[in-house]
Amino acid sequence: MASINYKYGDLAQRRSVHKNPTSTSQAHSNTPPLVLTEEDTHLAISHGVNGILISNHGGRQLDSAISTLDALPECVAAAKGRIPIHIDGGIRRGSDIFKALALGADGVWIGRIPIWGLVYDGQAGVELALQILYEEFVLCMGLAGCRNVGEIGRGHLARVGLDGRVSKL
Ligand SMILES: Cc1cc2nc3c(=O)[nH]c(=O)nc-3n(C[C@H](O)[C@H](O)[C@H](O)COP(=O)(O)O)c2cc1C
Repeated sequence: MASINYKYGDLAQRRSVHKNPTSTSQAHSNTPPLVLTEEDTHLAISHGVNGILISNHGGRQLDSAISTLDALPECVAAAKGRIPIHIDGGIRRGSDIFKALALGADGVWIGRIPIWGLVYDGQAGVELALQILYEEFVLCMGLAGCRNVGEIGRGHLARVGLDGRVSKL
C-alpha cells in the first residue's frame, strides 16, 4: 500500500523545513513523510529524510487502511535505527504509548485527544488531557517494572491469537 500524502519531489523541501523530527506541528506541509510500509521507509531514507511518521491520516481516508501499530514493526525493521520513527493514530491511553515504544517507536503524536480536551474545557482541558495521558503512561511503566523509557521493550508485550490464546511476542 503506497503512502498518498506527498510526492517524493517534495522531500527536498520537507527535509530543509523539518529539521526537528520531534516537531509537534500539525501543518501538513511541515510534517515528516508519513509512511505505512517498509518500502516507503526505505524510499524516505534513500531521499535523506531525518525522521518519518507512521500514520494512516487518523484512519480518515480509507476505512480499510492498515493500523499504524501493525505497520510499525516492519518500518522499524527497515529503518534499522538510522532515523527516528514516530507514530500516530489511535493513541488513547498511556498504555498505547507504552505499546508503541515497546514496538520500536521513538515517539508518538496525538490528534483527537487534545481536540477532545479543547472541547471539554479549552486550554485547561487540553492540559488535563495531556496530564492524564502522561500519568497513565508513567503508571503503565511502573506496573511493567520499567524505571525509564529505555527499559521498555518487546518483552513487555503479549499477543492474543485468533484462538484467544495469549503468547509472548
Ligand atoms: C478532524 C481531523 C482532521 C484531519 N485532517 C487530516 C488531513 O487533512 N491530512 C492528514 O494527513 N491527516 C489528517 N488528520 C489526521 C491527523 O493528522 C493525525 O494523523 C491523527 O489525528 C492522529 O490520530 P489520532 O487522532 O487517533 O490521535 C486529521 C485528523 C482529524 C481528527
